[in-house]
Amino acid sequence: MNKLKNDTFLRALLRQPTEHTPIWLMRQAGRYLPEYCETRRRAGNFMNLCKNPRLACEVTLQPLARYDLDAAILFSDILTVPDAMGLGLYFAEGEGPKFERPLREEWEIRNLSVPDPGVELRYVIDAVAEIRRALDNSVPLIGFSGSPFTLACYMIEGGASEDFRSIKSMLYDRPDLLHHVLEVNTNAVTAYLNAQIEAGAQAVMIFDTWGGALSNRAYKAFSLAYMQRIVEGLRREHGGARIPSIVFTKGGGQWLEDIAAIGCDAVGLDWTTDIGAARRRVGDKVALQGNLDPVALFAQPEKIAQEARTILDAYGPGSGHVFNLGHGISQFTPPEHVAALVNAVHEHSRKQRQI
Ligand code: CP3
Repeated sequence: MNKLKNDTFLRALLRQPTEHTPIWLMRQAGRYLPEYCETRRRAGNFMNLCKNPRLACEVTLQPLARYDLDAAILFSDILTVPDAMGLGLYFAEGEGPKFERPLREEWEIRNLSVPDPGVELRYVIDAVAEIRRALDNSVPLIGFSGSPFTLACYMIEGGASEDFRSIKSMLYDRPDLLHHVLEVNTNAVTAYLNAQIEAGAQAVMIFDTWGGALSNRAYKAFSLAYMQRIVEGLRREHGGARIPSIVFTKGGGQWLEDIAAIGCDAVGLDWTTDIGAARRRVGDKVALQGNLDPVALFAQPEKIAQEARTILDAYGPGSGHVFNLGHGISQFTPPEHVAALVNAVHEHSRKQRQI
């Protein structure tokens, strides 16, 4: 039974008719919001915020209090999974995420094990349940995870990387070792997403931020094949409701048909792909999510509204579109500009349906 007050997001993912095009934004709870910075200051640091379900719930709800968004996304990070595997995640100021114990030696890789989401990731599962209670069936809650390959990038590089030299050296020299890491990650992500679903996540998204850095053949063998196994292993239903899945490969525009074929309900698009052309390519196989350039949010509100209308018109009539950015929102985005985007998407998409 679906007693959500606003289920446009879930219906759009299943390509069912909606009264407007739903919108949410990747990284919608984050540093561009002064109230987020205030809560993070109280928590001490980002990881304390993630590990405290009450504070994670508080920041999840902050963007929904400001804007008429159609979905909430669990406040957490993709790197909680390798942290739970014992790699020691920390955030060096201004340098992004880092691991104290990146995977360097073969024995470290052979020793990797799948964390129990009910134990090492209990704080995330508790946050999901707490957020669901606080949302009180207003909008659906999205659960998420990193893709096995994107997680492996951070686990092997030890942090952000410009050229992915360590992981790609392993890919070419020791594909067996990389496949072993990806295998463990696949089992970890599948169990983690299913635990989020059981705790109340109503849709799930896999973030493959770095799959687009791979060659064509490597993408299929080292990223897409593992995401397919996750999608095949996901719970499709919970509490009588379908649980749709979204797969997002940044830079994955050339592989849309392949991504659409793995069994997910929706494919995320970055801002470099024309959404109308993407729709013609995937047909009625999947819904599409995207794809405003996040940097367009620095333009004047009327220009932002115009860009939003262009994307809605390019997608065209009919359902199956979830509006989003093509990647996470910048921490320097003026918060008022987000309101202009959300309102423009709702207004214009309502008008489109009246024609
Ligand atoms: O979308 C949401 O609002 C939900 C929360 C969310 C965060 N990270 C919160 C966060 C989600 C879905 C993520 C995913 C994530 N994390 C990805 C995949 C999506 C993407 O952006 O490509 C990746 C690659 C990460 C790893 C990570 N975590 C990075 C690169 C950073 C930024 C580091 C920096 O200093 O810029 C983080 C930290 C992080 N995750 C922040 C937030 C709000 C900022 C941390 C802070 O408050 O200092």
